[in-house]
Amino acid sequence: MILITGATGNFGSKAIDHLLNKGVPVSGIAALAREGENATALKEKGISVRIGDYSNIDSMISAFKGVDKLLLISSSDRGAVENRTKHHINAITAAKEANVNHLVYTSFVRKSGHEHSAIADFQNSHVESENFLKQSGMDYTILQNGIYQEMISAFVGDKVSETGTILFPAVEGKASWVLREELAEAAGNILISTGHENKTYKLTNNTSVGFSEIAKYFSAELGKNVQYHSPDVEDFKTILQTAGVPEMYIGMFVMWGKAVAEGMMDLEDNTLESILGRKPTSVKVFISRIYG
Ligand SMILES: NC(=O)c1ccc[n+]([C@@H]2O[C@H](COP(=O)([O-])OP(=O)(O)OC[C@H]3O[C@@H](n4cnc5c(N)ncnc54)[C@H](OP(=O)(O)O)[C@@H]3O)[C@@H](O)[C@H]2O)c1
Repeated sequence: MILITGATGNFGSKAIDHLLNKGVPVSGIAALAREGENATALKEKGISVRIGDYSNIDSMISAFKGVDKLLLISSSDRGAVENRTKHHINAITAAKEANVNHLVYTSFVRKSGHEHSAIADFQNSHVESENFLKQSGMDYTILQNGIYQEMISAFVGDKVSETGTILFPAVEGKASWVLREELAEAAGNILISTGHENKTYKLTNNTSVGFSEIAKYFSAELGKNVQYHSPDVEDFKTILQTAGVPEMYIGMFVMWGKAVAEGMMDLEDNTLESILGRKPTSVKVFISRIYG
């Protein structure tokens, strides 16, 4: 039995679809969900839905009974980053208690210097979770996933075609953006094949791109000149505040803008290509699919 946590979310639902497409029978897949209601679509597919919460170890021990392989999708808790670490440690503890054999964990891409980067707290949470997993005694596979291409849409906003401007404080930093569903596909492939025990994979794209290049892709797709401007961080905050963007989102945009500027997700690697058996979708193709 393979169990997928975060199964009602974007990544988890795609991982389940991929397992089904690859011929895993519905009876061989279970899903962890917080509420029955959120999991209606999964139940309709015949997937066994087990109710559990990352903040409640006992709920997960029951939910993980009889599971051989488990895909732990990292927590999306919006509060303090320590909540996420606690959630991961709870889930790993519960999996061990329930005699899960192999746990696959979705971490985040890391480069040297990450301890001092704009996303240091976030990275430390993954480092702590990875270390806890490695010491659990279960077989593990750590997927150091690259930054989602879908984040580009959030960073550029929904007015690019109107304004012809991308405003984001990433300077000339690049990142090796990846399509979320291809990361979910890679996780699915790892769950149904052998030889991944106690391995850590960096799952990024083959080529990194920055926002000057991204602006060129937008220009081509929208048929108009799109300019990229990287404002000073304080000016950027003022612009977002004036536009009425909530403080929580301003903090996140600034944090990710700085991390791209620092090159913290600029890591070109072919491992994802070999796990998918094809080249990952490029940013150019992603933008043409979404905006073309
Ligand atoms: N690599 C990147 O660029 C990047 C970007 C953003 C996020 N991430 C990470 O990748 C993960 C998956 O991404 P996604 O797009 O699939 O996120 P998503 O659509 O927000 O899904 C998150 C999933 O986690 C579940 N969840 C949240 N809190 C939980 C809890 N306390 N107990 C049990 N389940 C809980 C949610 O369940 P409910 O339906 O009950 O809410 C949902 O199924 C995120 O959680 C985040 O850690 C990575």
